[in-house]
Amino acid sequence: MAERDSWWKGAVIYQLIPRSYSDGNGDGVGDLQGLSSRLSYLRWLGVDAIWLTPIYPSPLQDGGYDITDFENIHPELGDLSSFHRLLTSAHSAGIKVILDLVLNHTSHLHPWFQRARWAPKGSQERNVYVWSDDPHRYADAPVLFRKFESSNWEWDEVAQQYYLHRFLRHQPDLNYENPWVQDQMLGVVDFWLERGVDGFRLDAVPFLFEAEGNRCEGLPETHAFLKKVRKRVDESCKDVLLLAEAIQPVEEAAPYLEDDELHGAFNFALTAHLFAAVASGSCQRLTRCLQEAQNVVPGCRWALPLRNHDELWLGDGHLVPEDVIQSIRAGLHQSHGHWLNWGVNRRLAPLLNGDPRANRLLHALLYSLPGMPCLYYGDELGMGDWPGLRDRDPNRTPMAWTPARNGGFSSAPDPLLVLPPITAPGYDYRVVNVEVQKELPGSLLNWHRRMLTCRRLLPALRFGDFDLLESSHPSVIVYSRCSETMMVLVAANLSAAGASLRLDLSKWKGARTREVLWGCEYPAADENWFVYLPAYGFSWWLVGEVEDSVDQNVPLKNLNN
Ligand code: GLC
Ligand code: CA
Repeated sequence: MAERDSWWKGAVIYQLIPRSYSDGNGDGVGDLQGLSSRLSYLRWLGVDAIWLTPIYPSPLQDGGYDITDFENIHPELGDLSSFHRLLTSAHSAGIKVILDLVLNHTSHLHPWFQRARWAPKGSQERNVYVWSDDPHRYADAPVLFRKFESSNWEWDEVAQQYYLHRFLRHQPDLNYENPWVQDQMLGVVDFWLERGVDGFRLDAVPFLFEAEGNRCEGLPETHAFLKKVRKRVDESCKDVLLLAEAIQPVEEAAPYLEDDELHGAFNFALTAHLFAAVASGSCQRLTRCLQEAQNVVPGCRWALPLRNHDELWLGDGHLVPEDVIQSIRAGLHQSHGHWLNWGVNRRLAPLLNGDPRANRLLHALLYSLPGMPCLYYGDELGMGDWPGLRDRDPNRTPMAWTPARNGGFSSAPDPLLVLPPITAPGYDYRVVNVEVQKELPGSLLNWHRRMLTCRRLLPALRFGDFDLLESSHPSVIVYSRCSETMMVLVAANLSAAGASLRLDLSKWKGARTREVLWGCEYPAADENWFVYLPAYGFSWWLVGEVEDSVDQNVPLKNLNN
């Protein structure tokens, strides 16, 4: 399938946690039935796809990323028929569904692990996981969840051996050296393909294989297995997205995007640079990271998240340089005292000090850069968080739908709720919720919807070439997106002070320029084109013969209704 024809090219992905999204049966836990009832909202908002964090049976020691059965649904969320109903309704609403595929590990309660512990040492059953008599193997692999674990190995009394776990001790790593494991996991891919899912977010892909003397990330054998996954998907002849979660610098994440491997990968380095740019008011490093990402993998195969269900992962200096981490720690309002393992454990709005201008600015970048913008549920409202909850739960609290009890998330009594809805000052669900914001024309929610409408009407933002333009101001990033039919110019000011600058648009000299969001005419393009951007301001301009250049059957004036 040509990349341009794939549904995921430039798609806007909305990430949600089904347990926290909407409770359909009133037991206090969000479920698939509840989510199905919110599809009309998601359609109204204008996202292309939803990515569901794991929905499989699990003891939930790691938010469902500890799975006991890969081919079923957690009973609190529903069953395979409710999944089928969700998928069918999503497809009729024009929304694709992406599932989390956790390849690296299972729950320690998975039948495979229980069988492995009791099986004889060295047997095929035992070797479904990675065992050792020596807990010092692979010593160069960092402990990822260092707040909770001090080693990647855990002693098992029954097996009388150590087992490897790159994450929690409740999540033993599968042994990909064992062909049986590879077959089983390819079978899981087939299982969900047959059920009609539109994509997989491949969790923790770098860690499938291990070797001595390195970080155990992205080894050649890991890439070889991912190519097998791709082959399976291609054989199904379905247009299915394979999206890698690899928290690695751009040059190390890029190899997952070879043509016969995965379609997309999150650009976590870019995420860190976006925050650092807002924190420092300077966009030079951000610009460099963007250019580098486009040099190694041009087009829109990078998925662009701001926040997700994890901490804002900054790492140990490997993902981004130490001074970038320092500028985030020093410059972002709510980052102090909220460090979890390797990053800041807050939601977007508190990190931005509740400033909707910064929320708009960062999303305006996401929605106009080449890639797949990822919107984390609740961030379209500027929802807050609950610091103090355990692990990453502060960022996983119930979606706020209405000012009614529990934010309309559930009719259950408070103690039964999966997590407490936000009532923190400034973020109280009685104020920050979908129903209220829908009614307010200037709300963040309505802004997001408008931006997504504009994006849909401007295919250059989805498919167009990307070029960074010279900027004479250190806080302002300027770039263009050009398709055969149109050229969109973007400028964004990452600082808390206004910025005026001159742009050299001699390349388009004489062309009509028009600001997209509000339809305001600007002077014709020339080499001395002056713009002023307020604090955290940005603009999208159409440059050229705009009336003819907006393709689809939608006239530009519709943008400005
Ligand atoms: C990924 C997930 C995270 C999970 C981990 C282990 O990083 O995003 O939530 O804890 O993998 O599966
Ligand atoms: Ca429920």
